[in-house]
Amino acid sequence: MASKPFHLGWFMNFTPGEWNGTFATGGAPWDGMFYVDMARALERACFDYIMIEDTLMVSETYGGSAEAGMKHALFVPKHDPTPLAAVIGSHTKNLGIVATMSTLGYPPFLLARLSSTLDHICGGRFGWNIVTSGEDLAAENFGLDKLPPRELRYEMAEEYCELVCRLFDSWEDGAVVMDRAKGVYADHTKVKPIHFHGKYFKSRGPLNTVRSPQGRPAFVQAGGSPLGRAFAAKIS
Ligand SMILES: Cc1cc2nc3c(=O)[nH]c(=O)nc-3n(C[C@H](O)[C@H](O)[C@H](O)COP(=O)(O)O)c2cc1C
Repeated sequence: MASKPFHLGWFMNFTPGEWNGTFATGGAPWDGMFYVDMARALERACFDYIMIEDTLMVSETYGGSAEAGMKHALFVPKHDPTPLAAVIGSHTKNLGIVATMSTLGYPPFLLARLSSTLDHICGGRFGWNIVTSGEDLAAENFGLDKLPPRELRYEMAEEYCELVCRLFDSWEDGAVVMDRAKGVYADHTKVKPIHFHGKYFKSRGPLNTVRSPQGRPAFVQAGGSPLGRAFAAKIS
């Protein structure tokens, strides 16, 4: 019988996990090594990728208070997925590593720079889970009173992605020549400003990171509404 290949991904976050049960591992996995162990097991099991979820607030969803979340370690504390992605990347060989970064939280230049750096550290296996955040509490952590409406968030995210793609492309392939005889590290004619002036974002460029192994990280988008799917189709 012909084999029928399929893809496998593992969805998780950088949280304490089970901390007081039979198989608990201590409840403080903050050096990342518990998740490295998990990622290596996934790699041995031929998973395609690991995806690290993220949010940018302490939830008060249950009863208008943080008590339940804190008491049961439900989605809090939650540490930053991007340094964890770097640690996982340097302890694995084949697994794709997807980290969530919100367009709410990062200026586009910083996100492009961080993604490019991570794609290098992960040997071309890094992916960006593109989210716009869905909680007013997150918006309040970034100087806003509340989130922009969903349609506007997608519209802004589209422009955001156009800008970060332009930044990723601001270094052409082959810009780094490392010509010892001529004493030239990089060819400046292959690294150009982008002068992006959008409706919501503006950036001069170029990035100050070398073009990454994939050129840009793999893009992941999980929104399932017609708007979310149209957004995914446009940016892929
Ligand atoms: C599998 C999956 C993973 C998601 N991961 C995150 C995440 O890590 N952080 C986040 O803020 N939103 C996350 N979301 C929310 C989506 O990015 C999106 O905002 C949400 O699905 C609503 O979009 P829609 O109205 O287009 O369906 C996730 C959704 C799904 C289905």
